[in-house]
Amino acid sequence: MSNYYRPSMFGGFSFFPPVIKILMMLNAAVFLTVEILGRFSLDGYSLYQFFNYYFGLMPIGYGFYPWQLVTYQFMHAGFWHLFFNMVFGLWMFGMEIEHVWGSRKFLFYYLMCGVVAGLFQLVLAPILEPSQGIAPTVGASGAVYGVLAPKDAADPDDAKQVARGEKLYRVHCASCHGVNLEGQADWRTRNADGTLKPPPHAETGHTWHHPDRVLFDYTKQGGQPAAPPGFKSAMPGFGGTLSDGEIWATLAFIKSRWPKPVRERQRQIDERSR
Ligand code: HEC
Repeated sequence: MSNYYRPSMFGGFSFFPPVIKILMMLNAAVFLTVEILGRFSLDGYSLYQFFNYYFGLMPIGYGFYPWQLVTYQFMHAGFWHLFFNMVFGLWMFGMEIEHVWGSRKFLFYYLMCGVVAGLFQLVLAPILEPSQGIAPTVGASGAVYGVLAPKDAADPDDAKQVARGEKLYRVHCASCHGVNLEGQADWRTRNADGTLKPPPHAETGHTWHHPDRVLFDYTKQGGQPAAPPGFKSAMPGFGGTLSDGEIWATLAFIKSRWPKPVRERQRQIDERSR
């Protein structure tokens, strides 16, 4: 459901959203376990090798087991390997995505990227690097590359995204919300049938009172899903017309037209809502 009517003043912005926090702790815990227990051996068989050969990603036919597609993501070859993947990949770039997508979708996406990267590794490595032999692949890099890829956010400072959004706005939104985002002149009075008139998206309206996610959902699904009982929304959903990226671009354009202080206020509202 949309949280259009949820007050946006509560809930804290977190530098460590839940899934990222858990993933970082898990990765660190696995690393420490392997480092410490790996110093021991059982019947002359090094535990370090045991961990890497059973939980690292082994080539098909040389000790591959399906669970390795998930477990290898949590194994690291050394401290710096772990550190760079966690801090510069997962944390710095993932934070934004987990905020925008929500934790569940983010976790699924993260693990799937790791699995897909693992499958590529299984298929391509024997072709591209036959000399690599049968060493296990370890590390969150595959999952982390996925985190670096998408931009599901409306960034008013991204000139390219804004230019793309401006074109889309002219075609899809301007007829109702006004070429200059001014809305309909008497937008505060309702129509005879009780529906609202298209409000401004400029700072004179209240678009900027809402977090990005709410604006996105409102544009994608239209006003009806978020409406209180009895309210008939006149805002159409664009989910069938625009891709998610196009909706974010349109919102980036709208945000770029707000004066700096308004933009800053909305940014705070957005952060608090996450
Ligand atoms: C057919 C007219 C129409 C078109 C086209 C239209 N809107 Fe709307 N929009 C409305 C109306 C009417 C509302 C007032 C709320 C309601 O009725 O649900 C609204 C409300 C909104 C809101 C909520 C604003 C707030 O302050 O709470 C957003 C966001 C929005 N529109 C974005 C867009 C975007 C982005 C586009 C173009 C992709 C667009 N709209 C195209 C009619 C339209």
